[in-house]
Amino acid sequence: MTIAARPETLLIQGMLARRTTNGSFRPDPVSREHQHLLMRVAQAAPSHFNSQPWRFVLIENSQTIQEIARISGESMTELIEAGVFFERYRRYFRFSEAEMNARRDGIHIDHLPGPLRPFTRQVFSDAGLRLMRQLGVPRKLGEDNRRLVAGSPLLLAALLDKTEYHPGELSGFYSVFGLGAAIENIWNAVGALGMGIQFVSTPMEIPRQWQAIGGLLRVPDHLELMAVYRLGYLPDEDRRPAIDWSSRHRKHLEQFVSRETCDLPETEPR
Ligand SMILES: Cc1cc2nc3c(=O)[nH]c(=O)nc-3n(C[C@H](O)[C@H](O)[C@H](O)COP(=O)(O)O)c2cc1C
Repeated sequence: MTIAARPETLLIQGMLARRTTNGSFRPDPVSREHQHLLMRVAQAAPSHFNSQPWRFVLIENSQTIQEIARISGESMTELIEAGVFFERYRRYFRFSEAEMNARRDGIHIDHLPGPLRPFTRQVFSDAGLRLMRQLGVPRKLGEDNRRLVAGSPLLLAALLDKTEYHPGELSGFYSVFGLGAAIENIWNAVGALGMGIQFVSTPMEIPRQWQAIGGLLRVPDHLELMAVYRLGYLPDEDRRPAIDWSSRHRKHLEQFVSRETCDLPETEPR
């Protein structure tokens, strides 16, 4: 039997297939059973001294979802319009297959919105930014983003308990590490439930917008809002969104693993 066919490797196959969903979800609500299962897998994660510093808010109220969607879309428009997004993140974008294949990290810009496709190389320049503004791209991307979030049946807020989470101290690192492990468990589990998950991250980039979301969720002083995700069941047909920020490319072993010391890159048969 090949390794891939052995049932005990289903978990590993699932982890290798884990991915970010950038497209829309089916409108059906996520069953309470699945929501609670996701919370159970989250809390199965390791944490320092079993402190379990994570807290979660499950959000299904349609008004709250619409409001978070509005904030998210507005934030996207603001970030793109001001050029902040491309300035902050241009180093992660790859402009050719060759560049992507050499580095094997970042995101290949191969799916820009139609009007911009002929200008792929200029999109991160000042001239490209002016052109994008003229074509109304920031608003289009903001509206795409708002619609994706608004059409999600479930949002999930991840928070940390500030009695554990002290940024800049080891406990801060441990808490973030534990929350990351909990989120990764959720991320892996959604795949097995026919669901998808994506960060709702644009509001985090604009402090007043992040505060507004904190206000909507009535986050108390002893908790820190760390992240918001949108979740739902996946449609049968996987249509790619206007801009697909995710990538399946991964580095070769010798690009991120070494043996015995940092000096000797690990090799693997290809
Ligand atoms: C800390 C962190 C922040 C991320 N932020 C976003 C985000 O803002 N929007 C998004 O669509 N994906 C986001 N992602 C997902 C990555 O883009 C994605 O994991 C990467 O492109 C690889 O694609 P994959 O998850 O489908 O394998 C984030 C992932 C991490 C770990």
